Amino acid sequence: MTSSSGQPGAIAEPKGKLGVLVPGMGAVATTFIAGVEAIRRGLSKPIGSLTQMGTIRLGKRSDKRVPAIKDFVPLASLDDLIFGGWDIRADNCYEVAVHGGVLEQSLLEKVRPFLEGIAPMPAVFDNFYVKRLEGTHVKKGPNKFDLAQQVLADIEQFRKRTGVSRTVMVWCGSTEIFLKPEDVHQTLEKFERGMQENHPGIAPSMIYAYAALKAGIPFANGAPNLTVDIPALTELAKQDSVPICGKDFKTGQTLMKTIIAPGLKARLLGLAGWYSTNILGNRDGEVLDDPESFRTKEESKLSVLEHILQPDLYPDLYKGFYHVVRINYYPPRGDNKEGWDNIDIFGWLGYPMQIKIDFLCRDSILAAPIVLDLVLFMDLAQRCGMRGIQEWLSFYFKSPMHAPAVYPEHDLFIQLMKLKNTLRHLRGEDLITHLGLEYYD
Ligand SMILES: NC(=O)c1ccc[n+]([C@@H]2O[C@H](COP(=O)([O-])OP(=O)(O)OC[C@H]3O[C@@H](n4cnc5c(N)ncnc54)[C@H](O)[C@@H]3O)[C@@H](O)[C@H]2O)c1
Repeated sequence: MTSSSGQPGAIAEPKGKLGVLVPGMGAVATTFIAGVEAIRRGLSKPIGSLTQMGTIRLGKRSDKRVPAIKDFVPLASLDDLIFGGWDIRADNCYEVAVHGGVLEQSLLEKVRPFLEGIAPMPAVFDNFYVKRLEGTHVKKGPNKFDLAQQVLADIEQFRKRTGVSRTVMVWCGSTEIFLKPEDVHQTLEKFERGMQENHPGIAPSMIYAYAALKAGIPFANGAPNLTVDIPALTELAKQDSVPICGKDFKTGQTLMKTIIAPGLKARLLGLAGWYSTNILGNRDGEVLDDPESFRTKEESKLSVLEHILQPDLYPDLYKGFYHVVRINYYPPRGDNKEGWDNIDIFGWLGYPMQIKIDFLCRDSILAAPIVLDLVLFMDLAQRCGMRGIQEWLSFYFKSPMHAPAVYPEHDLFIQLMKLKNTLRHLRGEDLITHLGLEYYD
């Protein structure tokens, strides 16, 4: 076994089935679940998934050792995944996927009985935290602590019913209103008292996260909500040796930002402004049409450029650049978002230039492989004895969780290097520095 900090050593094999519990069974969750089933049946390929399609170079370039990641570290097999979750509506995954309109009907028909067999458990929900939704399939209880106990009972029942040997939870629920960390989030004791007293600072997503950690289940947060990113829960994760990570899947426009901005900075090109706007028409777009939920998303999207460009270190290039992010709810587009970026840059002697991006993307298609990778890597992390914040999974997030002493790493290429070096480290392989002088001795 590895030590608690993920030191190299033998990693426990992924024996038995792996449960995947998802609070929020909407477009992303059902695209992920239907996709895994389609891939298991050989109907499609896991495009976009590092765990399924990625490779990792080991040793020198001249060694030519480049195994597939899934052959290098012991990951759970797709055949061993068993799904469950919660939603505020009782529709099964087939009905949700049809309504979502992300996947073609012809594909959905092929996995229909499988999807119809997955129906959500009643949710912990309060319309105060997601103003645009009304829940019909919702738990009742005298206080938030009691609701957490009900989620724990659901988890126990899921484990018994399916016989899974391990479980991971990934929040794919709607974006909640903007909450700031406050006193009730500071310690586990205050948090638990706050749940008993129905403190408004404790959102439903925190209740699921608390229950997951109490049950020893790794928790990943796909939305920008505070959720597990509070001292009370990071402390609980460490104390109970459970991995956590978040926040907010890095998909369309922000993915592009973290690909392009490091390139501009690498060549010391200046930035005067970056204007980003989107139209999308899925339920996520509807929820984000509410200013309070949008604020949570906006904070998450805005922080990226500041951290990559480091204006304090490069004032002549990046001090005071203008950054705007808009999301407009436009139903005709459904899940097929269109994101425009206008980037005003400047070069040698300050001469201005412009870059325009028009990304016709598919939100859930980009998010689904991220969910899969997080499930498999979080399970691996737990089998390696890693606990608390998993910064090496920053690659997948718009607002990566990080230790208080450091700033988050947003550069996609540094994030990928960090991820792969962590895998090398876990396997006792040399880390890759890209120095390369040895080839010319
Ligand atoms: N698709 C992407 O590219 C992407 C990227 C980053 C983040 N996200 C985030 O992922 C989440 C899911 O996105 P989506 O497109 O699937 O949205 P969606 O609206 O289709 O699905 C969200 C689901 O969560 C349910 N829900 C809301 N509150 C809940 C609660 N308390 N408990 C259980 N279920 C609850 C809703 O009923 C809905 O079915 C959103 O928060 C979104 O902002 C998505």
